[in-house]
Amino acid sequence: MAKLHPDLINKEFWYKDITLIPNRLPDFERDMVDLTTHFTKRLKLKTPFVSSPMDTVTEAEMAILMALLGGIGVIHYNFLTIDEQIEEVEKVKRFEAGFVFNPVVLSPQKTVKDVYDVADKHGFFSVPITEDGTLNSKLSGIVTHRDIRYRKDMETKLKTVMTPREKLIVAKKSETIDKNDLQAANEILRKNNLDTLIIVDEDDKVAALVADSDIRKNEQFPLATKDENKQLRVFSAVESRLELAKERVGKGYDAGLDGIIIDASVVFKEQLEIAKYCKENFPKLEEMVRKIIEEASDYCDALRIGIGPGAACITQQELGTGRAQASAVWECSKEVKKLEPKYGFIPTIADGGIKIPDTIDQDIAKPGDITKALALGAKTCMMGGLLAGLDESPGEKEFDYEENRMVKKYRGMGSTEAMKKRGALRYGIEKMKIKIPEGKVIKVPYRGSGYDFIPQLIAGVKQSLQKQGFKNIKELQEEADIRPLPK
Ligand code: XMP
Repeated sequence: MAKLHPDLINKEFWYKDITLIPNRLPDFERDMVDLTTHFTKRLKLKTPFVSSPMDTVTEAEMAILMALLGGIGVIHYNFLTIDEQIEEVEKVKRFEAGFVFNPVVLSPQKTVKDVYDVADKHGFFSVPITEDGTLNSKLSGIVTHRDIRYRKDMETKLKTVMTPREKLIVAKKSETIDKNDLQAANEILRKNNLDTLIIVDEDDKVAALVADSDIRKNEQFPLATKDENKQLRVFSAVESRLELAKERVGKGYDAGLDGIIIDASVVFKEQLEIAKYCKENFPKLEEMVRKIIEEASDYCDALRIGIGPGAACITQQELGTGRAQASAVWECSKEVKKLEPKYGFIPTIADGGIKIPDTIDQDIAKPGDITKALALGAKTCMMGGLLAGLDESPGEKEFDYEENRMVKKYRGMGSTEAMKKRGALRYGIEKMKIKIPEGKVIKVPYRGSGYDFIPQLIAGVKQSLQKQGFKNIKELQEEADIRPLPK
């Protein structure tokens, strides 16, 4: 572990109360710093950032941003139905794929309007047409943006605009998917200058798609967090209620979900049962419980640390309990490390309290809190408020006349507003008449595109490590010199 100044031992302290002393002379460039880390026991990330499962932070767009830039997003569960959450997972899994399995298909009887509906919902126009509009019937053709862009009559049937089967260049499943040879499919796509290549099985049914735009995206984002099929990885949050969680996890698993976070403000016994259920039924899924390692090490793939440090949290003020985040990260990570010889490696996630000054003149990315969390032993940082102001978070930006700037809404999942949906489950009070809020609704500065903002944060964390002479997170965690700042 790093060196913690004696004045900090057994004290409560926040990130703002400490500084990291540079003791080494760096002899390497900033961009040589490697931020590769562990999100869970098995899953590595090239960027130690995780977006919070909150309904003003992470849906598909944010999860895509995070995964493309090397981190990961956790989709919240504050939807009215489980299926709505699963749709967000599907959007991420479809966004950038090698082989797109289960693609959206339509029948020749559908109309141009139906293709626009697909584009609205999923963000793409290329749709294979099959005899009965399901994957169980033969391929009839394809409709792409080119086929419909000048059509004014939205009721035009697709059979009159599609490129018919006999004119289509397709690839065979036996020569691509069955050999796990994405390269072969890409070559056909490029050689024939196609936007989309359909892969068919021996009965001429659609087995998968490969899209040219995906290949280009693959080249643009070298840090991306992907699964074996080159699809972006995504986690989702699950409530601490076993019956609900069973349905959520089962549906998520079918949609390609990579793992779950059991999201609750306190540790319930039921969390352990959920984790156990998942490991027994879906052994490939990653999962986390905030539970004591001794009880949970067999089922728990990472540990999330934080009670009430978040920007929209009022737990500490309302209930008088919680911890100063920096000391919590240090002590929990130290404990986990101590238990490692007996229970194995479990990475910790520093959740909440990452602050970036947002006074009007100073609204820039200052990633020092992230480096401090990593120096204190966390393998990744989970962030809510910092990301809620990006274009990729749910909700619209608006002009704040009082502060004379653009803002976005950010709300704690324990706020009265969020608890009207499923948020109350997080606090285990969904059936109770009196609900004490543990969160509030605030405005955060609008920060523009995450595709500009996150690379700045990454560069900032790298620069902070370089200043201290550390080439990677492991060196930082072993040798950082953490001292108190004068009050
Ligand atoms: P930041 O500081 O990044 O914190 O905005 C995000 C984390 O805050 C937690 N969270 C809450 N905690 N009351 C709380 O005490 C709430 O209403 C609430 N909503 C979210 C959550 O762990 C998140 O990742």
